Amino acid sequence: MRIDIITVVPELLSSPLNESILKRAQESGHAEIYVHNLRDYTDDKRRTVDDYPFGGEAGMVMKIEPVFRCIDKLKSERDYDEIIYTSPDGITYNQREANRLSLMKNIIILCGHYKGIDYRIREHLITREISIGDYVLTGGELAACVIADSVVRIIPGAIGDEASALTDCFQDNLLAPPVYTRPSEFNGWKVPEVLLSGNFAEIEKWQEEQAYSRTQALRPDLLEE
Ligand code: ADE
Repeated sequence: MRIDIITVVPELLSSPLNESILKRAQESGHAEIYVHNLRDYTDDKRRTVDDYPFGGEAGMVMKIEPVFRCIDKLKSERDYDEIIYTSPDGITYNQREANRLSLMKNIIILCGHYKGIDYRIREHLITREISIGDYVLTGGELAACVIADSVVRIIPGAIGDEASALTDCFQDNLLAPPVYTRPSEFNGWKVPEVLLSGNFAEIEKWQEEQAYSRTQALRPDLLEE
């Protein structure tokens, strides 16, 4: 899978995209992630990417031309399944959307910035608008990292232990059951007996019950979906 991220602050993306699972997925060829600096697609000396809004509201607006040039160039090189814009007024991101995106071949993520972007970009170039929650970030870069991380980790084969991605929280609309490691007793705090029993049928039953009861207690809304 290939992800092209368009931003005015590429520095914000380099570290999160080049560590741990994301790094390994790129090294093993399961994912390719490219970051494009929008300023490289400007044509003036000051490399202007924003301008004053028509109508005189406060704040700056991302200009249409550099975004158009960048997306146009990428589209001339390959077909894209989805061109995403990160914005607090998009659809709320969740595991179902991550699963859907992980099956795609090529996607573009345009990071929103400033007060917003010229609405014609959203009308004519963007195919999906995604919010990562009901709060406002300084820009869409962190949202793009959230999307890239959650998508890449579930690409089949991207993480060594495939079962681990499939048993993630939310994969079946349930929170994950508690996990423990050695020592089996610390400070008098014990690991549940069943996990030490070696009886895998019992262990699985316990894990399912825990997943269900934790979801009912903490996120009952997931059970209604
Ligand atoms: N840009 C600013 N806030 C955002 C949010 N909550 N989700 C996605 N992009 C954003």
